[in-house]
Amino acid sequence: MSRAAPRAIRLERFGESFRDATEIVALEPRAPGPGEIAVRNLWCGVNGIFDTQIARNAVDYVKIRPPTFTGVEAIGVVEAVGAGVTAFVVGDAAVTTRFTGGYREANVGPAAQFTRVPSPDRVWLALASTGVSALLALEHVGQVREGETVAVSAAAGGLGHLIVQLAKLRGCRVVAVCGGVEKAAFVRGLGADRVIDYRAEDVASVLAAEYPNALDVAIDTVGGAIFDAFVDNLAVHGRLVAGGAAQDLEGRPEVVTAPRIVHKLYYKAASVRGFMNGLLPQLWPAAREKLFALHDAGAVKVTFDSVAFVGLEQVYDAVERLLSGGSMGKVVVKLEKEGLLF
Ligand SMILES: NC(=O)c1ccc[n+]([C@@H]2O[C@H](COP(=O)([O-])OP(=O)(O)OC[C@H]3O[C@@H](n4cnc5c(N)ncnc54)[C@H](OP(=O)(O)O)[C@@H]3O)[C@@H](O)[C@H]2O)c1
Repeated sequence: MSRAAPRAIRLERFGESFRDATEIVALEPRAPGPGEIAVRNLWCGVNGIFDTQIARNAVDYVKIRPPTFTGVEAIGVVEAVGAGVTAFVVGDAAVTTRFTGGYREANVGPAAQFTRVPSPDRVWLALASTGVSALLALEHVGQVREGETVAVSAAAGGLGHLIVQLAKLRGCRVVAVCGGVEKAAFVRGLGADRVIDYRAEDVASVLAAEYPNALDVAIDTVGGAIFDAFVDNLAVHGRLVAGGAAQDLEGRPEVVTAPRIVHKLYYKAASVRGFMNGLLPQLWPAAREKLFALHDAGAVKVTFDSVAFVGLEQVYDAVERLLSGGSMGKVVVKLEKEGLLF
């Protein structure tokens, strides 16, 4: 039975939403050239905040121009290998975590952009992408040490729920910020010592009362008042890792009138550090290895959001699910509809 051409989601113009700005297009089938492999994807990971920011042309640091393919991470099975490829054989499971490799049913590219993993299970997809981000944010940028106090925002999310676990494994006290009773229970179940449900409690007041000048590492991907509360409560030598700004989907950061933060940092020898996983590819192999071993040992578990998405078309619903703030754990889309792919 011949297969239909695989498809991918392409940014065609800027727009209000990822759905408005993109189209599903057919990919030109081609055999892998020398050094390349061809992969049929089974799952992709969803980064709805980033997707929305690129749709709105709000990502200053890259300035992505349409037309461009979209999505970051996908996992699948190798269908063909080009001349000279030794790292893969047909049938291997392969994962990629590079931008434009994500929202597509198939991918042909340099073998070096893929990693061989034990199986095309979504767990390897989540570990190789979001897991690596969690580990590098905490250990490489945050430079966490045993027994420190670690705060994390969006703690029930794909990234956050892994940071909570990794920090607990390092013997840290974890202060987890998230929105809602169900998320709070989930994060408590992961071992967080203090969960702040920002819908029920004021983050700044709780930190000032219970963790004044006590945050050795704070990892924030939300921004706004949570970022400010983290800055205010950094410990001596504290490190605030800025890894995202979910509150700013427009690329128009809130303008506030407030004292400059230099004094808050200088007297404590504290720092604010940016984290961008895409700029640290040289650290990915060791981070993957460490995470895969922790997972094999049962020390880290990936939770996937309870809503199932199937087929490339449902990437849009998955993006909207992430934006709703209702998801818990990693959001993924199964690309293969039974018997229909290709
Ligand atoms: N820098 C990097 O290299 C890197 C790598 C991976 C991810 N990230 C960033 O890390 C964050 C987490 O990514 P993820 O994919 O794991 O997502 P996620 O945390 O599973 O989902 C996003 C969560 O952010 C919180 N949030 C706060 N304000 C929001 C808003 N205005 N709109 C939507 N959500 C909001 C919500 O949780 P609460 O309501 O519980 O706060 C929401 O559930 C994202 O901002 C992403 O861009 C950065």
